[in-house]
Amino acid sequence: MEKSNLHFQKAISRIPWGTQTNAKRPYPFFEDVMPKYIERGKGCRLWDVDGNEYIDFRLSLGPVTLGYCYDEVDDAVRKQMEKGVLFSMASPIEYELAELICSMIPNAEMCRFMKTGADVNSSNIRIARSCTGRDMILMSGYHGYPDWFSTEDSPNNGVPEILKEYVKIIPWGDCEAAEKLMRQYGEKVACIISIPYDFNEDTSGEYIRYLRDITKEYGSLLVLDEILTGFRLGTGGAQEYFKVDADLAGYAKALANGYPLSTYVGKREYMEQLYKFKMTTTYAGETLSIAAAIATLNIMKREKVHDHIWKMGKRLMKGLQEIAKSLSLEAYAAGLPPASFLKINTPDQNYNERLEYVWHRELYRERIFANQRWFISYSHKESDIDETLEKAAVSLQRAIDAEQKERKNIQPFWW
Ligand SMILES: Cc1ncc(COP(=O)(O)O)c(C=O)c1O
Repeated sequence: MEKSNLHFQKAISRIPWGTQTNAKRPYPFFEDVMPKYIERGKGCRLWDVDGNEYIDFRLSLGPVTLGYCYDEVDDAVRKQMEKGVLFSMASPIEYELAELICSMIPNAEMCRFMKTGADVNSSNIRIARSCTGRDMILMSGYHGYPDWFSTEDSPNNGVPEILKEYVKIIPWGDCEAAEKLMRQYGEKVACIISIPYDFNEDTSGEYIRYLRDITKEYGSLLVLDEILTGFRLGTGGAQEYFKVDADLAGYAKALANGYPLSTYVGKREYMEQLYKFKMTTTYAGETLSIAAAIATLNIMKREKVHDHIWKMGKRLMKGLQEIAKSLSLEAYAAGLPPASFLKINTPDQNYNERLEYVWHRELYRERIFANQRWFISYSHKESDIDETLEKAAVSLQRAIDAEQKERKNIQPFWW
């Protein structure tokens, strides 16, 4: 990690955190094994600045669904680049992508584009407020950095205190808390915005179906934040998988295989509200990312990408579970195959957390890049999964031994 560490020292002299993204901050406990900087990627593999090669299950925090430098997507971008990146009026490919998106996402009768997940969540909140004439929102899950979503994330974070009056948090999955808040504030609530699935063991969809019902009861809108679930669970996202019909929804990460594009979609009656106020930014129609998204979605449609992702995810889950069994560790594979995890389940919760943490350190040592959830891409082939499982077995055994020796110094924390 020599070059990584040296570069970090330089970077923090000019860049607070040395990076732009919270989750990409280095973990002190993984200091010697987790790279701080990545040089390049291809398929499901990454190379760090020291030249080490990894099989990657983090997929740049979710966006890379097909694989790094996926030729057909990058070729589409290069072709578009020859025409230009951004023009003085709209580009016709905006409509081409809108048609594709509306053909794939269940509630999408109209859509518009933005750049980030935070952008589209904010846009949907504005539409919900404008449509209902109400100011309050209830939220469940992480939705990005804007003030609305950051009222409670840390003290003195620059968010006006007064916003707490307008934003209330429902712990994800807690129907009782949702009901209580709606009973108290329902008539003032413009919308509930929620992630559909928390990448945990609750794969039932009951929570968001409950939110669907209670929002209807109070005349509030249901806004789904599909930033992580969209185009990852399937082409119709969580709406399709959990059979829930949202009023508005936001998609970003897996839409364009890593190119910066997001989209907010919804029923025509709500989306047409955009004729009444300004929701605008210069780069939302940037054509390289739009070309990337068109190529990505066409590949997903044509090649049954998600069948493969689920199949590889199931292979990984089965393998991890067998490894735990062979080591007599109380653990099981949990979650949905496109982003599963090994749930270490001994009666000692602190031990479970410590072991998980040391295991991840040892996975990095084996050049497996995974962070709590195992994201699968179309480029992970059976041989990649099998190589990963061999390394996962070695690293889990080593972690069990290390946990015993290092117990006092292990303080699990994830950014
Ligand atoms: C569920 C969810 N919503 C919103 C966001 C924010 O997206 P972005 O970082 O693109 O603004 C994220 C990012 O991690 C996310 O996971």
